Amino acid sequence: MDQSTLALTQFVPRPGIIDLGWGHPDPELLPVKGLREASARVLNRYGSDALAYGSPAGPGPLIEWLCDRLGEIDARSPNPDSVALSAGNSHALDLLTSLLTAPRDVVLVEGPTYHLAVRILRNHGVRVVAVPTDTHGLQVDALAQTVNAFRRRNHTVRLLYTVPTFHNPTGVSLGDARRKQLVEFAEAERIIILEDDAYRELAYDEPAPPSLWSLARRGTVVRIGTFAKSLAPGLRTGFITSDPALTTRICNWGMFASGGGISHFNSLVVAEFGVTGEYARNVDQLRSAYRERRDALLAALRDHLDARATWLSPAGGYFVWLSLLDARDAAALLPLANAEGMSYMPGTKFFVRSQKGSSSLRLAFSRYPPDELAEAIRRLGRALDR
Ligand SMILES: Cc1ncc(COP(=O)(O)O)c(C=O)c1O
Repeated sequence: MDQSTLALTQFVPRPGIIDLGWGHPDPELLPVKGLREASARVLNRYGSDALAYGSPAGPGPLIEWLCDRLGEIDARSPNPDSVALSAGNSHALDLLTSLLTAPRDVVLVEGPTYHLAVRILRNHGVRVVAVPTDTHGLQVDALAQTVNAFRRRNHTVRLLYTVPTFHNPTGVSLGDARRKQLVEFAEAERIIILEDDAYRELAYDEPAPPSLWSLARRGTVVRIGTFAKSLAPGLRTGFITSDPALTTRICNWGMFASGGGISHFNSLVVAEFGVTGEYARNVDQLRSAYRERRDALLAALRDHLDARATWLSPAGGYFVWLSLLDARDAAALLPLANAEGMSYMPGTKFFVRSQKGSSSLRLAFSRYPPDELAEAIRRLGRALDR
């Protein structure tokens, strides 16, 4: 049996390397004790019901608490009949691509976009097409041109996958005027927006902007959210807010009919964490820890890379997007950076056409404490000196 079959976790640290390539949480920030106690309370309270096949949309206690929470952190709270629980955003994206597209449909994404979302989309045989972004996010005018160009050639353009809030990999949030413009365009053109809202809870400077879902008429936006970033990725628990008709379609999907609700036990544990206030306290702690890390990373960039790179300062999420000056190639620099003892994700990974983004790279500040982040950037500076 090969080692990967026996490994316990996805991320395996490489000795001597501070790896800013992975968007994973620091293990120190995962609430082991709190979740152990919440799990015990769930088993005491619900007994065998906690271990039965769950109701298709997910257990009521989590849906109820989630609707209240979204009322606090978004502009609008969903009705319970518009919510279905998922196994997180990767699962939700896979499921919704199955439900909403047919092979060879055009699915639009941002350029750059979350690279693993492209992999999920491509599993469904759809054609993935990128629309350019700038420092305010997706360029909605360019989106309109792309849609028109494909429709003129009789392609079906059904879906836009977007991360409008604390984007992966750029950290940018779509501006308010563009949010409105985007929603109006999608409504007029009957394009479904699949809004990946993975980072909403991780807002460091001010509350996250209103979701596209909260701004749109019913049926235009399907928002996917996850507890991977605000609680723990290993729970594989998240949610889909859409409208009652789509929620019913999800609940009638064969996988739900056959296996019941997704992550039933874990959903009850998350609900328990939510109603006791532990979830909110955990998010507060994450915000302050990640804010400190973001600031340490940005300070180290100013100290060590000034005049050799530019970067975007994120107001939330996990990532800083860096562009090397003098057209230096980030993929070519990577072996030198590894030799100095740090790593990152080259920018080309996040573009559908891989020649783009060659001088850019993504740094994740989620996994390491401030002093190690500063050390990683010192090492990146040394790699650039070489
Ligand atoms: C934008 C985005 N969507 C989805 C995911 C994965 O979400 P989940 O762990 O809930 O499957 C990530 C994780 O890095 C992400 O950055």
